[in-house]
Amino acid sequence: MATKGDYKIIDHTYDVVVVGAGGAGLRATLGLSMAGLKAACVTKVFPTRSHTVAAQGGIGASLGNMSEDKWQWHMYDTVKGSDWLGDQDAIEYLCKNATTAVYELEHFGVPFSRTEEGKIYQRPFGGHTQNYGESMAHRACAAADRTGHAILHTLYQQCLKHKAQFFIEHFAMDLIMDDEGACVGVMTWDLETGEIHRFNSRHVILATGGCGRVFFSCTSAHTCTGDGNAMALRAGLPLQDMEFIQFHPTGIYGSGCLITEGVRGEGGYLTNSEGERFMERYAPSAKDLASRDVVSRAMTVEVREGRGIGKEKDHINLHLEHLDPDVIHKRLPGISETAKIFAGVDVTKEPIPVIPTVHYNMGGVPTNYQGEVLRPKKGKEDEVCPGLFAAGEAASASVHGANRLGTNSLIDLVVFGRATALRAAELIEKEGEHVKPLPKNAGEEAIARLDKMRHAKGKLKTGEIRLEMQKTMQSNCAVFRTKDLLAEGVKKIETVSKKMSSIGISDRSMIWNTDLVEALELDNLMAQAQVTIASANARQESRGAHAHEDYPDRDDKKWMKHTLAYNDGKAKGSVKLGYRKVHTYTLTDEVEYIKPKKRVY
Ligand code: FUM
Repeated sequence: MATKGDYKIIDHTYDVVVVGAGGAGLRATLGLSMAGLKAACVTKVFPTRSHTVAAQGGIGASLGNMSEDKWQWHMYDTVKGSDWLGDQDAIEYLCKNATTAVYELEHFGVPFSRTEEGKIYQRPFGGHTQNYGESMAHRACAAADRTGHAILHTLYQQCLKHKAQFFIEHFAMDLIMDDEGACVGVMTWDLETGEIHRFNSRHVILATGGCGRVFFSCTSAHTCTGDGNAMALRAGLPLQDMEFIQFHPTGIYGSGCLITEGVRGEGGYLTNSEGERFMERYAPSAKDLASRDVVSRAMTVEVREGRGIGKEKDHINLHLEHLDPDVIHKRLPGISETAKIFAGVDVTKEPIPVIPTVHYNMGGVPTNYQGEVLRPKKGKEDEVCPGLFAAGEAASASVHGANRLGTNSLIDLVVFGRATALRAAELIEKEGEHVKPLPKNAGEEAIARLDKMRHAKGKLKTGEIRLEMQKTMQSNCAVFRTKDLLAEGVKKIETVSKKMSSIGISDRSMIWNTDLVEALELDNLMAQAQVTIASANARQESRGAHAHEDYPDRDDKKWMKHTLAYNDGKAKGSVKLGYRKVHTYTLTDEVEYIKPKKRVY
């Protein structure tokens, strides 16, 4: 065992290290173990507490169990949902592989709800259509309204069956990059023993989820701090399309808890203070099942124009009291309980008060369709960052573009989690198992950063700085954005970020030091808040979830491109922006490039 100051360092060598144990991390770990590779999964929470557990309504795949469906229709809906910012090669890969991925989950043991004939139950969801927009499809494969829970537990059990190795309650601190810019491992802090672990590996797969906690009100767990994305930024890599933040239309007013879109899939609907089903005006065809960005904007307009519900007229009603209680009991048991606990509502008798709530990062670490991390190369096509993969919400493949369709997150996790494992195994087979050696002083910077935070003696508490950041993002980077709001937001976030130098940590221990963990998480969140608001401020158009009131139209000529934001934190005002081309080609000739058109529902 090595030491550095009072830090004990334990060294490991693996073929692949997966960081994160949500759906993407576990599917990757499982694939690697099944391929016979020496793989480790490091995770800051117990695997079955990862945020995938909270996913409710379903996983998207064109099984066609309850209405005719085709993967080409799924692809069309996803491209349209992305407002033509998604990479069509990756979208093709996702939709084509989705059905196999779901059947694979079924065989792994996921307890899906069933039709009378015993097939996987599928419900309608926003933006899912048949025949290129003609009518609504039933594509969301559901395990009641606890689909993420069912998938996460099944994948973990499969990982155990295949003897995968876990390092649980390890906080990932930083990637280890060598002098040639390749990723050769990762540093973690074992929260239970206080020891530092230095993993040297052929590949690292980032599957650390999104950074919903950058905002004040979100459906994300407190652990959703985008640690992997912040590690990528510190390693000098860009994050892509971070300005695209999904607001889920139905977070419970006041608590932010998710009420699944599956409620509207089962026949639920929204009303304003006049009792009007206002979605009929905004999306005459899809109505309450329009794409999420469309519904969230409509709700926000209703509230802004004085037709909100409640004393403050600041929310909307979601009705399901007209549904058969048996359907509610069978298909929506989880949200019935959540609504009772968090809104005091009996859903069989009264509507649930809801409000658009931050739910998902469309952006993340840029990757190709095999999950390999991309970085731009001067004057050339993008190059792959050797040794580094990303999958799930941490990544931007980019299948969601400017707006993700509901259920495409769960399918993204398993399709791309599997893809990273396949590609890593293929590379190891081709290039040999040789693990590149660690550079001299590997991980010392990460330990120095940890040490500095651990001994910070400033006057400000982590919670105070975090609240200021979250409130700023909530008001300056919301459903609707303006030039002035965004420019002010950039300045305010810069000011808040400077307060990190006045942070104080109350506990110097290395064992279960939650104060220190939260401070490190805040540091990660802050870097992502900076790139999010800077990316949003620069994009002068409206596309998907980025609704800019000074530039209300989509501008394909100037802005059909991915934003790349860098923020290695080494210089003041350190966010730098660049752009890369959207992939306007498909992988096979089974499907053609879907040309941009106006997006109506
Ligand atoms: O509404 C929901 O059940 C959420 C699904 C998703 O974000 O994909």
